[in-house]
Amino acid sequence: MQKLVSHVIRNSADKWYGQWITADIAKVKAEPEFSLAQMFSGQLPAQEPVESRLRPPVIFYKEFNVPDKALRDATLTITAQGIYQATINGVAVTDAIFTPDYTAYTKFLQYQTYPVTELLKVGKNRLQIVVADGWFAGRVSVSGGSGQFGDQLAALADLDIEFADNTELQLGTDETFNVTTGKWRYADIDIGEKQDLSFSAEPTTEQAPAALAVFDYSRLVPQEGPQVRRQKVLPARKIWNEGAALIVDFGQVIAGRVRLTTTLALKQTIKLEHAEALNQQGKFFKNIVGRNKDQTDIFVGNGQKATLEPDFTFHGFRYVRITGLTKLDLADIQAVTLYSDFAPTGSLSTSNTSVNQLLQNIKWSQRGNMISIPTDCPQRERIGWTGDMQVFAPAATFYYDTDQFIQRWLRSVRADQQDNGEIVDYSPAPKDFFNSTDFTGSVSSAGWGDAIIMVPWTLYQRFGDQQVLKDNYNAMQRWFNFAQTSAAGDKTGSDRYIWDTKFHYGDWMFPSVMMKSGNPMETAQLTKDLVATAFLAHSADLLGEISAVLGDDSRIYRDYASKVKQSFAKHFITATHQLTSDFQGCYVLALAFDLVPAKLKTGLVQRLVEKIHTNNDLLDTGFLSVPYLLDVLVDNGQVELAKKVFLQEHCPSWLYEVKQGATTIWESWNGIQPDGTVGTLSFNHYAMGCVLDWFVRDVVGLTSTTPGYQTVTIAPQVAVVNEFDLTYQAVSGEFKIKQIKQTDGQHLTVTIPTGVVAKVQVPNAKGAVQTVGAGTYEFTY
Ligand code: BGC
Repeated sequence: MQKLVSHVIRNSADKWYGQWITADIAKVKAEPEFSLAQMFSGQLPAQEPVESRLRPPVIFYKEFNVPDKALRDATLTITAQGIYQATINGVAVTDAIFTPDYTAYTKFLQYQTYPVTELLKVGKNRLQIVVADGWFAGRVSVSGGSGQFGDQLAALADLDIEFADNTELQLGTDETFNVTTGKWRYADIDIGEKQDLSFSAEPTTEQAPAALAVFDYSRLVPQEGPQVRRQKVLPARKIWNEGAALIVDFGQVIAGRVRLTTTLALKQTIKLEHAEALNQQGKFFKNIVGRNKDQTDIFVGNGQKATLEPDFTFHGFRYVRITGLTKLDLADIQAVTLYSDFAPTGSLSTSNTSVNQLLQNIKWSQRGNMISIPTDCPQRERIGWTGDMQVFAPAATFYYDTDQFIQRWLRSVRADQQDNGEIVDYSPAPKDFFNSTDFTGSVSSAGWGDAIIMVPWTLYQRFGDQQVLKDNYNAMQRWFNFAQTSAAGDKTGSDRYIWDTKFHYGDWMFPSVMMKSGNPMETAQLTKDLVATAFLAHSADLLGEISAVLGDDSRIYRDYASKVKQSFAKHFITATHQLTSDFQGCYVLALAFDLVPAKLKTGLVQRLVEKIHTNNDLLDTGFLSVPYLLDVLVDNGQVELAKKVFLQEHCPSWLYEVKQGATTIWESWNGIQPDGTVGTLSFNHYAMGCVLDWFVRDVVGLTSTTPGYQTVTIAPQVAVVNEFDLTYQAVSGEFKIKQIKQTDGQHLTVTIPTGVVAKVQVPNAKGAVQTVGAGTYEFTY
């Protein structure tokens, strides 16, 4: 991994030698208007061919002379409007890709500083910066519009060379740079890329001097958090013919791209289309629909053997359909996975192979959805839906150290916060987001916007650093004020504490409705008022805790939370002790967020249990409630039922997906229906993978009780597997928890890091808790 060198914050023009450069050919064409309502109605507009809509990535380059004297140090500091690839003398300055990462570009744009001493030579050198549309100008909105953060690609760079004799050579981007295009005929992060290898490596076409441009410097900040890199490279498992096309199966749904070594004749053109599933008949099937979600790459040959891989795009896929190529060996093609470069922190395996597959699927969905920002899915929207991160955040800190990655995204979330305090549905928010509110009539939703409170709280719990609370506190309060004001509307009395005044996604996509009508908006309508009110109370409770941690007055939040809770009971609990929205997820949230008067609790638990039983012991929880389902059952004495629901293999359940051959977590529990019908939703959404967090806390039993795992409990209490083996590198040190089954019972071995105090409670110990410090201990039960 390459270290980035950082200097003073270069957030004004005078801190750069270089200036923003652009060119006429760096202007991105606007896609026609296309509303969300049109998109979700399944209509696709007639479109011009990709090639006439998309332009080639722009190459800025300059040749310069390095005198013959000893070099001390050289760095390249660089950013772009678009994504850039910089080379010196043909060698990439970094193995990071999709630089400068995805942020709320108009308010917060990162630059990077790379050490480049080794790339320079005495005499003639060439600095080249290729800029592609990327997230900045590409077709990244839900409905596939272009120019989302601007329509002018541009580069800004300083090459700083220090010699041993204390002299310097400073070279910045300016009008002495040339502009041209090369083998990349177009490259869109969502649509795909076309490379024509018959284009000369030395650009000769469309050459012109760069134009100086005036773009904002004040938004510039140095790189924060991990960059995206190529990670695991997966071999092809199987290749077969479908008509004239070749289908390749990599055996794993991933986000990334294909690397293919082949000899293409001069002008021979091959097309690679990507998909996550085969249809019921085992045929290649594009599971992603929508405008500009092509996921298609094209390569044109030059008569020579070459290794082909796109540079400025990625796809969500397991299968690739290749047309234009007749022969391919397994060894010629690989899938290159891409994700942000986190340090691994957790590993977990069990004696149950289906559970192990589920745990792996969660990990793969995390990888696929952490390319620069946390996303819903890596093939369709690919955007930072706040709700998805909120739901998955507790699980997201187990396998990888995602602290800085998530904090960088929170910075974009804060940058996109509206003047009235609204936290928008997804961040970075492209311009089309604000143009397409016709669909829901709103830019925010309870449970999504609450990410600004819930996600920093989770990071604080896991990593123990109050700074994340401080950084986000103001934004939390502003969101909370918005929520309060929005709920109150012009109402009076206790109605003011019921958030029924606007659109919310509610318990999004709960399965019984999805399996009947398939319409997620119906799940929103059926649950939104109750669910939004539940989150209003929960966020008030959390703000009460957060303000106390920060030494602020927590009374206003605590008082408000109790008012919401009273109103909740009055409005949403019927005389027969049921909820007005009589769905599993609503009971789960009411119980999880402690919204229920003590005397009514047992009745509501019973109703939840009854609902699960009448649903054949299957879950029926949507996005917002599923993280709490198993906790609520366990905490209310329904351990056996929790076990049953978790181990279910019928639809909808976690292991149903595994049984259907899933290698990632699906957006919809019935992505592949029991009769084999394959749907057109995403097969790579991490949200439902939130169950990993429950598994770690309740099955393995590891819970942090003081922020940052300074004190913990280890209390395995739900025996869904006989054996497990967990390692977790917390900020406080490494925990190991291993259970094996032997003839004399279960053996639990725990290793506690230095300075940590653990309370261990094994099953059958009749409540006895043993407090232990650092060391390794074995318990038998
Ligand atoms: C996304 C979700 C997201 C939701 C908003 C979907 O299209 O893929 O994961 O949270 O919309 O309700």
